[in-house]
Amino acid sequence: MVNIKLVDPSMEYFESQLEAIHEGFPYFWNGTDNQYSAEQIKEMTDDPEEFIRTQNKFSSQEYTAPDGTKFTFERKRHWIIDTDTNEYVGEITLCPGIKDDFLIYAGTTGYAIRPSARRKGYASSAVKLSMDYTRQHYPDMKEIVICVAPTNISSEGVVKKNGGQDCEIVDAGHGFGMVKRFRIPL
Ligand SMILES: CC(C)(COP(=O)(O)OP(=O)(O)OC[C@H]1O[C@@H](n2cnc3c(N)ncnc32)[C@H](O)[C@@H]1OP(=O)(O)O)[C@@H](O)C(=O)NCCC(=O)NCCS
Repeated sequence: MVNIKLVDPSMEYFESQLEAIHEGFPYFWNGTDNQYSAEQIKEMTDDPEEFIRTQNKFSSQEYTAPDGTKFTFERKRHWIIDTDTNEYVGEITLCPGIKDDFLIYAGTTGYAIRPSARRKGYASSAVKLSMDYTRQHYPDMKEIVICVAPTNISSEGVVKKNGGQDCEIVDAGHGFGMVKRFRIPL
């Protein structure tokens, strides 16, 4: 059993997050452990406060669907903190305002855990907390949607632990390809 909280990115956990990045925390969460580049790390460390500001913005994601249609949607990032050690263990993003059309291609929720903290239940607990947060802050949302690469058994395990059962296979296009899309009622 892990004890966690979700917080807005802040300077308090910057060093801990940097350690996670050096340890291999991925930049792009499509199931491959791709790394932050040296330039990205330099930019963060040169101006940590600006980095934290950008982490806190509702970032506008641009996306091209397989049929060429362009979408934008808003994404909010939360850091996952272990409340026993006060360390950053990973991140979970929510896209609360995502339009139903866009759900054909992507999900409302994404997550990643630093390599040394995996398989301890952090991601499953963070999804559970984010579902509580969504119920509280976005009462109009009736479900969360999580899209998982077909070979990403770790992420699929997280979905199943949170009640995701049946999935559809959809072509998420740009950067993702075919994904399993799970809908979890709130
Ligand atoms: C996917 C990821 C977030 C899982 O985080 P985690 O904290 O290790 O997940 P949990 O400990 O909550 O695991 C929940 C369940 O998933 C399954 N699972 C997790 N890791 C697994 C692995 N390496 N092998 C097999 N099953 C695994 C298990 O069923 C596990 O439950 P159990 O430990 O009781 O058997 C993590 O592996 C990661 O950051 N991967 C890279 C980024 C990524 O793929 N993000 C998801 C994009 S959709």
